[in-house]
Amino acid sequence: MTDSPSLRKSPFLWGASTAAHQVEGGNRNQWTEWEEQKAGWLADTALDRMRQQMGFGFSHERLKPFVSQMSQAKNYRSGRAVDHYHRFREDFQLAKELGHTAHRFSIEWSRVEPAPGQFDDSEIAHYAEVIAELRRLGIEPVVTLFHWTLPLWLADEGGFLSPHSPKYFTRFVEKIAQEFAGSVRYWVTVNEPTVYASASYLQGFFPPQQKKFWSTLRVVANLVRAHRAAYRVIKSHRPDAMVGYAHHHTVFEAADHNPITRVWVAALNFVWNECVLRCCLGRLDFIGLNHYFRLRFKTWRQVKPTEEVSDLGWPLVPDSLRRAALDLKKFGKPIIVTEHGCADADDSRRATFITESLAALEGARNEGSDIRGYLHWSLLDNFEWDKGFWPRFGLIEIQYDTLDRRVRPSAKVYANCIAESKAHLLN
Ligand code: BGC
Repeated sequence: MTDSPSLRKSPFLWGASTAAHQVEGGNRNQWTEWEEQKAGWLADTALDRMRQQMGFGFSHERLKPFVSQMSQAKNYRSGRAVDHYHRFREDFQLAKELGHTAHRFSIEWSRVEPAPGQFDDSEIAHYAEVIAELRRLGIEPVVTLFHWTLPLWLADEGGFLSPHSPKYFTRFVEKIAQEFAGSVRYWVTVNEPTVYASASYLQGFFPPQQKKFWSTLRVVANLVRAHRAAYRVIKSHRPDAMVGYAHHHTVFEAADHNPITRVWVAALNFVWNECVLRCCLGRLDFIGLNHYFRLRFKTWRQVKPTEEVSDLGWPLVPDSLRRAALDLKKFGKPIIVTEHGCADADDSRRATFITESLAALEGARNEGSDIRGYLHWSLLDNFEWDKGFWPRFGLIEIQYDTLDRRVRPSAKVYANCIAESKAHLLN
């Protein structure tokens, strides 16, 4: 098993994740342009899009509390988001009080490199302050380099469809590594290449809303190239860096003994959960595991979930985190859970979901999965991409009119889990 002595000695990482575009506010990238053009259309089509995306999880009844917000164009403009760009100190202080020892965030490429090859020193200084503040609080920074937003100049060239995109990404990573390799040890190169490529180029949910199979494959291939090049660059600046990418893992399960179901589930698992991972394996110090749900099938048809679901209709199955971690065991890499959470506006399900999922994660660890960290999605309520602001994933609730922060009860339950675990469990 590939193991890095330095990662093995490191304490378990406990904390939460965010992504620049979802929390910072004031960004100018391909998403902001899309939001400006499509906010009205997103509002008008909200329910239809939810029906399409949620499948069996769709329920008018469940969405009732959110329908008014979903139907307003302003819900789909990220705008000032939660103003984390200016309030990161306050937010990190709350994370500290909740016992977090690590925090994952992304550096916004469009801020740092607003024109090709031209870097904005004031934005680099901003992220230096972010990292310094985390370090001051004793919180380990985990830095993501691409969490789905592109500088406008690159979007104009086709984004990751462009054959030059891996080269551009490498130039950006070179600059960031030069600046921050000394103070950052954990790096996530790309967030969920499969989700990004399929939602943007196959399903047409995200900008540029294409539905082209070959484009999807090209984007995935360029993201793999980008990851591999970024890995080399970061390691050249810091050989003991821990570099991974955030792999979105869905647990696919057969709900009967039909051989067709078995074949279908195996195919889904290979295409969605393994292909990209296998391409990156030689350049991975850890696997970043982003896990949200399990899907069950009879033949190729999805079975209606019987479990409780989140506000987004995603089944809440704590044990699937154990399954996901065990699925990855065969790759012989350390695993850091880089995202896991649920949209739960009234905070009625999150606490149980977290405690039971952490118990399941410990189960995976006892069964031999090499788990080194758990970063909940998300620290803060945030801008949930094509769904806007209504889904609430935060440990910390945001009052959007005042931007006041309020720690949710479930965040305190998570804090207790961390405190107990620091004493004995996952350390
Ligand atoms: C993404 C996050 C997103 C979360 C919840 C993940 O796939 O990385 O940016 O907010 O899912 O939808």
